[in-house]
Amino acid sequence: MINWKDISELHAISKIEEILHRWFGVEVLYADEHGKIRSKQLDSEYDSENHFMNVQIHLQHGKDYLEGDLEKVNEIFEKTKDSVIKLDTYFPHVKGIAAKIEIGGEFQGSVWAYPFIPEALTAKEIKEIEDKLIEHGANQEDATGAIKHIKHLSAKDKEYLTGLVDLVADEIASFTTEISKRDERIHDLNSELGNKYRYHSMIGKSKKMQAIYNLLDKISASESSVFIQGDNGTGKELVAKAIHYYSPRKNSGFLAVNCSAFNDNLLDSELFGHVKGAFTGAIKDKKGVFEQAHGGTIFLDEIGDTSLAMQVKLLRVLQEGTFLPVGSSTPKKVDVRVITATNRNIKEMMSKSEFREDLYYRINVINVQIPSLRDRGEDIPLLIDYFLQRRCAESGTPTKMISKKCLEKLLDYPWPGNVRELENEIERLVVLAGDDKNIGPELLSGRILDFGGVADRRKTGEPGSNVKTTGNLKDALEELEAYMIKEGLKRCNFNKSKLSRELGISRASLIMKVEKYELEKRNKAVGE
Ligand SMILES: Nc1ncnc2c1ncn2[C@@H]1O[C@H](COP(=O)(O)OP(=O)(O)OP(=O)(O)O)[C@@H](O)[C@H]1O
Ligand SMILES: [Mg+2]
Repeated sequence: MINWKDISELHAISKIEEILHRWFGVEVLYADEHGKIRSKQLDSEYDSENHFMNVQIHLQHGKDYLEGDLEKVNEIFEKTKDSVIKLDTYFPHVKGIAAKIEIGGEFQGSVWAYPFIPEALTAKEIKEIEDKLIEHGANQEDATGAIKHIKHLSAKDKEYLTGLVDLVADEIASFTTEISKRDERIHDLNSELGNKYRYHSMIGKSKKMQAIYNLLDKISASESSVFIQGDNGTGKELVAKAIHYYSPRKNSGFLAVNCSAFNDNLLDSELFGHVKGAFTGAIKDKKGVFEQAHGGTIFLDEIGDTSLAMQVKLLRVLQEGTFLPVGSSTPKKVDVRVITATNRNIKEMMSKSEFREDLYYRINVINVQIPSLRDRGEDIPLLIDYFLQRRCAESGTPTKMISKKCLEKLLDYPWPGNVRELENEIERLVVLAGDDKNIGPELLSGRILDFGGVADRRKTGEPGSNVKTTGNLKDALEELEAYMIKEGLKRCNFNKSKLSRELGISRASLIMKVEKYELEKRNKAVGE
C-alpha cells in the first residue's frame, strides 16, 4: 500500500517535481488505484504556479474534468501492459503523460504530468482551447493567460518528460517496496527474543551467526577459556561480552584490556597491579585488572601483540590462578575467566616462535571464529536497520529510510572494515541526510558509491542520448538539465540572460551549470 503522504515528503520526489514544473511547465498529479487524486491539486487552498491548471481548477467543474481525465488514465492502465501513456485530455489539444505505478506486479496508481501542448499547434487550434475555457466559465483574460503560459513541447521534450514521469513512478514503487520490507525487518528485530536475530547486543540472522549463537549458548555456562578470532571490526568484543553476560559470572565485573595499547611494563602493571615503590611514580599499591575482575571475566584483546615475557606471566595465571604484582614477591590468587582475542594469524606466529605454543593451547580451549561481514551479506540489511534505528533514536529524529539504490550500493561493497565500517557509514548517512527522511545513494561515501566502476559507467552516458528511465535519479536529472540548457542556448542564440529568465533560474546559476556541463559556445558539444 502506498503511503501518499510519505511520498509527497520525499526529497527525491519533490526535487523531480520541481524540475518538471520548471522545465516542462507541467503539474505532477498522483492518483491511487481507484483513480482518486492523492496529490494536493484538489485541496481548496491550493494555488498552482501553473497558470492553465489554476484557471482550470477554478472553473465551476474544473476539478471534475481533472478527475475525469485521471479516471481515463486508470482505465487505460488496467487494460494495457505499457508503463507510460500519452493522453488526450478534456481540453482539445491539451495533453498529459501518465506512468503506471506497479508494485509486485500489481497496479497501485499513476503519476500524471499535465498540461502541455504539442509544438506544432496552429493558431486555430490554440483558439479552440481558449474557446473551450471560455465556454466553461473562464473570462477572456484568464483564458488568454492560461494559453500563453502553457508550454509547447517538442518530440524530444516529450521523450524526456516521458522518461522522467516513468522515473517518478519507479521511485514511488521502490520506496513503497522498501518501506514494507523495512517494516518486516523491524518486526523481526522487535520480536528478537523469540528468534535468533539478536544475541545479547549482536545482530545477525545468517547461518554463520546462528552457529556462533549456538556455540556461545553452550560455552557461556562453562568456565573454559575462550579464544576469539576475526578480522577488525567483526565484533570480537561483543562476543566476549555476550559470553560474560550470559554466564554465571554476570553479576561480577567484565574488564577488557587492549594488550596492544601498552608497552610491556605498563601492561604488566595494568594487568597485575604494583606495590608502592615498585618503580618511580608508584606512590601507592595499585590493583591490577586481574584482581579487579575477581569473580568475573577478563577480556584480553589483541593477545597476539604481547611479548614472550608477558606470555609467560599470562600462562601462569591461566594455569595456577596466581600472579605477582609488579615489585611484589607474594603471589596473589584470583578466580577469573579469561577470554582472549586477536586478528593476527596465531599459527603463523607460533611457527615463527613469536607466540608460545603452551599459552596458545591454554587460551584456545574453545575457539570462536567470527566470519567477516562480506561472508554473511544477508546480515547487512538487518544491521543497517539496526544502526539506523539506534542512531535516529539517539538523535531524537524519526527513523530514516535507506533508498533501494542506496541499499544496493551498500550490498555491493565488500566491507573490508566489517561491521564497524558499516556502523560508521550509517551514522554518517544519518547526519548528512539532515531532515530528509529518505537517504539516497548520493550521500554515500565515495568509495562505496563508486565501487564497481559505477563512476566510469556514469561518464559514458552521453548527454543528449536517449533519456534514462532507470538508474540514478540524480544522473537522469543532470542529463536532462544539460540537455535543456544545451537546447535553450541554441534557441536563445547564447543569450544567457534570456535563457535564465526562460528557465526560471538565476543567470549566475545558469553560468555555473553551463560550465559544469561544458556547454560553452566554443565547445563542440553545442556546435555539432
Ligand atoms: N553483530 C553485530 N551486531 C551489532 N553491532 C556489531 C556487530 N558486530 C560488531 N558490531 C559493532 O561494530 C563495532 C566493532 O565491534 P567490536 O569492537 O566488537 O569488533 P572487534 O572485532 O573487537 O574489532 P577490532 O578488531 O577492531 O578490535 C562495535 O561498535 C560493535 O558494536
Ligand atoms: Mg576489539
